[in-house]
Amino acid sequence: MPAADLPLSTVESVRAEGRLWCVTGGAGFIGSHIVETLLELGQEVICLDDFSTGKQANLDHVRSRVSDEAWGRFQLIRGDIRNDEVCKKSCEAVDFVLHLAAQGSVVLSMENPALTHDVNVNGSARMLEAATAAGVKRFIYSSSSAVYGDETAVPALEDCLGTPLSPYAASKLIGEILAKNWSRSLGLSTVGLRYFNVVGSRQDPDGAYAAVIPRWIHELKSGIQPTINGDGKTTRDFCPVADVVHANLAAALVELPLSDDPGLAPSLVCNIALGSATSLNELFVLLRDGVAERGGPCADMEPLYGSFRDGDILHSTADIQCAIEGINYTPKLSFTEGLAETLDWFLN
Ligand SMILES: NC(=O)c1ccc[n+]([C@@H]2O[C@H](COP(=O)([O-])OP(=O)(O)OC[C@H]3O[C@@H](n4cnc5c(N)ncnc54)[C@H](O)[C@@H]3O)[C@@H](O)[C@H]2O)c1
Repeated sequence: MPAADLPLSTVESVRAEGRLWCVTGGAGFIGSHIVETLLELGQEVICLDDFSTGKQANLDHVRSRVSDEAWGRFQLIRGDIRNDEVCKKSCEAVDFVLHLAAQGSVVLSMENPALTHDVNVNGSARMLEAATAAGVKRFIYSSSSAVYGDETAVPALEDCLGTPLSPYAASKLIGEILAKNWSRSLGLSTVGLRYFNVVGSRQDPDGAYAAVIPRWIHELKSGIQPTINGDGKTTRDFCPVADVVHANLAAALVELPLSDDPGLAPSLVCNIALGSATSLNELFVLLRDGVAERGGPCADMEPLYGSFRDGDILHSTADIQCAIEGINYTPKLSFTEGLAETLDWFLN
């Protein structure tokens, strides 16, 4: 993701000092955008990834978009966040950890809950421990709107949580509890970012666990009718990946208020989204028309409708005030701008 898509104040604060960042999951969809932006802004980056869903092609794409000098500041550690030695090595002399590595599929978590717990909970605990031992300045981790579970209030407010509806959601909630406790008990400053549905280039269109936007784009351009799970009135708060990159960098650099107790490190959890709802029926029309305008064979296509999926939330829209006030987050692109960039990327 080009640094030009970030607010100028964030670009300036990152550029002001050369720092070392550890990005776990840096070969994945969101992580590779963060890696690219950090390199572009003169930073040193350690990427820790086991390539379970991450792709060498994502890193190759980053390589093709940054200078030789920038790529010289990139280091890859191929390994698993469940391995203590790997975590320790990845955090050595690091200023900030951006922890994105996770088993991120709700569907897979229903099939293999123990694996999801192991990666998302035990792996995160190991990263928290390694970051604390290395004395990093702050640990920023990726949570999810899935933690709201069966709480139906719209928009979602950080403190109003329901019961998680999938092992994935439970693992992300436990991750938040662990991180907040690390701040309280072990002095590590932490910020959790609850992403809603992120959209952008490099998101994986293939396989049973693919996210809805890349999967539908892929189907529409191949002339295949996409299936909407449910009646299509389900809503999501789709967030351009540029905003998620911005949130990660802003969360690292912002000064967080200190607690009255000098033993407690600052800690915060906030929603990252646009704060607006799009139904799956609306999304289908936007994608169908966008693909057709770019020459795809789907101008008059209608969707198929299937049953609702277990573990899915019906309506999800974020209140983003906490992020605006807490980390100076401001969405820069609208959903349609983010979608247009995504369509251009997938259709070229
Ligand atoms: N994409 C979204 O809409 C969305 C929404 C909410 C939260 N999130 C969270 O954002 C983060 C990044 O998601 P993404 O969409 O880029 O997914 P992704 O699958 O593209 O990226 C995850 C990365 O983590 C790596 N990884 C997985 N297990 C690992 C392990 N044990 N050790 C080392 N690396 C490992 C994968 O290889 C991959 O590169 C995840 O924590 C996810 O739960 C994403």
